[in-house]
Amino acid sequence: MEFAKPNSIIIKGMGYYVPEKVVTNDDIAQIVDTSDAWIYERSGIRRRHVSEGESASDMAVKSARAALEEANLSASDIDLVIVTTVTPDMMFPSTACLVQAKLGIRNNIPCFDLEAACTGFVYGMEVATSMMQSGKYKNALVISSERLYPILNPTDRSTCFLFGDGSGAAVLSCSDEPGVGIIGNVLGADGAATAVLKIPAGGSLMPTTEQTVKDGLHYLQMDGREIFKNAVRIMQEKALDVLDLCGVKAEDISLLIPHQANIRIIETVAKRLKIPSQKVYVNIEEYGNTSSASIPIALSQALKSGRIHSGDYVLLVAFGAGLTWGATLIKWQ
Ligand SMILES: CC(C)(COP(=O)(O)OP(=O)(O)OC[C@H]1O[C@@H](n2cnc3c(N)ncnc32)[C@H](O)[C@@H]1OP(=O)(O)O)[C@@H](O)C(=O)NCCC(=O)NCCS
Repeated sequence: MEFAKPNSIIIKGMGYYVPEKVVTNDDIAQIVDTSDAWIYERSGIRRRHVSEGESASDMAVKSARAALEEANLSASDIDLVIVTTVTPDMMFPSTACLVQAKLGIRNNIPCFDLEAACTGFVYGMEVATSMMQSGKYKNALVISSERLYPILNPTDRSTCFLFGDGSGAAVLSCSDEPGVGIIGNVLGADGAATAVLKIPAGGSLMPTTEQTVKDGLHYLQMDGREIFKNAVRIMQEKALDVLDLCGVKAEDISLLIPHQANIRIIETVAKRLKIPSQKVYVNIEEYGNTSSASIPIALSQALKSGRIHSGDYVLLVAFGAGLTWGATLIKWQ
């Protein structure tokens, strides 16, 4: 079906879901040689929520239902489903198709997964927005859902504390009002830096064998220092790029929602952008890094707590494995 081409694409509803079970830094300190003080000081993380059997699609369905309710729409209104995840329920079919079936969304619409690691939500917004601008899709679900805890090596103290599970979802809708909603998006990638964050085994390059499991190659591997350096530089650059693109100044930003990877990265980026801490949304203490779900969880919470008002400029900025990066500027409707 073709609709009139929209003037804007807005976020009509947000929702999030995190599992109930909490793993504290003290819990982790019982397994590896670390402490709550070390983890908190280096990362800003105290706790993370961990799924007890719920898959990426199970969590996605919960955040999507919350987003639909906030948008005052039902599953039958949805014309496009994009799920971003590095932890799909299975290699295939896509998690988006599983979510479509669980939500009872009709079957003559596109549903697909998008993998851009922690930048997934920002990539997903750009893909959905571009498709919707064609006039073919009126309402889209962009859902980011991650079950990361099982891909962490519980005996690797340099990675096991960083990540947690959860899901965030956005309902994007076409609007006749010009100049509002998602007003700018910049994306990028550097495939020369794939080694700094990866899971070596389990794909077509190194299929799972008894040996790969024995060697722990199905677990996430990371060069923390290298990522830290790149993240600070890239997030600052991309934030400035999208502001430039839209002719908006950093001082006009009402709320910066950065990918929640490390409080020191977030604080350094905000400082370099001269955005004061009260205009930066941070929830890393409670959830750790939930990869692509981190920005939509934060955006959903920011909305619910009344931190976003009509006319506000909200800046999202993310980076992740790939490397991938992206920034989105929203003028709240
Ligand atoms: C992981 C991270 C918190 C580590 O902090 P850091 O200040 O870089 O720490 P380093 O890796 O330099 O390690 C410092 C020391 O602490 C030790 N250490 C590492 N993990 C530890 C832990 N959990 N507890 C106690 N000590 C630890 C190291 O062995 C090292 O000891 P050494 O100096 O004797 O070799 C930080 O690099 C980071 O957050 N990087 C970005 C990661 C990220 O964002 N990934 C996701 C991207 S989407």
